Amino acid sequence: MDRNLNALRRELVDVQGVPLFWGIAEEWAQVESFEARPDDLLISTYPKSGTTWISEILDLIYNNGDVEKCKKDAIYKRVPFMEFIIPGISNGVEQLNKMQSPRLVKTHLPVDLLPSSFWKNDCKMVYMARNAKDVAVSYYYFYQMAKMHPDPGTWEEFLEKFMAGKVCFGSWYDHVKGWWEKRKDYRILYLFYEDMKEDPKLGMQKLLQFLEKDMPEQTVDKIIYHSSFNVMKQNPTANYTTMGKELMDHSVSPFMRKGISGDWKNQFTVAQYERFEDDYTKKMEESTLQFRSEL
Ligand code: A3P
Repeated sequence: MDRNLNALRRELVDVQGVPLFWGIAEEWAQVESFEARPDDLLISTYPKSGTTWISEILDLIYNNGDVEKCKKDAIYKRVPFMEFIIPGISNGVEQLNKMQSPRLVKTHLPVDLLPSSFWKNDCKMVYMARNAKDVAVSYYYFYQMAKMHPDPGTWEEFLEKFMAGKVCFGSWYDHVKGWWEKRKDYRILYLFYEDMKEDPKLGMQKLLQFLEKDMPEQTVDKIIYHSSFNVMKQNPTANYTTMGKELMDHSVSPFMRKGISGDWKNQFTVAQYERFEDDYTKKMEESTLQFRSEL
């Protein structure tokens, strides 16, 4: 217990310009030298962009829609979070090293910090992006319930940190742009949370095509149903309720919170919205990336 308490609410530590959990920073050499395998599928996201959702979908695809098989273990065991290391408590690198292929590997790292073995092995990667305002709101509630983060402060304070990239895994703007550029040279399927929400079937088709996998329509529909927000929210192997309360306190805010697009409207004041949009335009103007902030 002491070890756990010691791990909580500590300040982030800079790794090559990106603020990360202290444990990741301390064990960075392990992460950097991670050995990807050619048949790994990397699931990459900025936090709160639907990582768990796309992970559940991909694990169901990998198991041909066998729901019971996927329910045998928690999502964070089926799709290990590669760089997540809290010394003595959790180690994504060790978890993955022990895992049989083919592996699904989760990361939140920006492109520049991804271990080079992924590029060298030309691994397939699925990137899921979500609009910045919904991510900021989701992240604020997550900071409160997931105790490995530093104290988020007020919403106003947190929003400033988010815009300045002073949150765990750094700048949302650099993250989405960095991966968007990389997709030109590597096998990266770049998806959007909003598209997946609007038309999960089309999202499934894109995933299956990318994975070069055929699947009966019935199985596709089954996977869409089992990965829908309401079903995942009730599934203890997908909703993080199996994680210790000292690390994630769902009574503060559930991990499966709202699962909608446009919730930022319930959080931003008009002044915050205007300031955010102004700053957003400057940070995103040279990029061809386009997001939808509501459906
Ligand atoms: P909200 O906080 O806006 O509800 P991540 O897995 O990257 O941490 O992202 C978590 C966000 O994705 C949360 O957003 C969560 O509710 C949402 N989410 C999780 N499963 C989902 C699903 N099946 N459909 C839609 N959104 C989902």
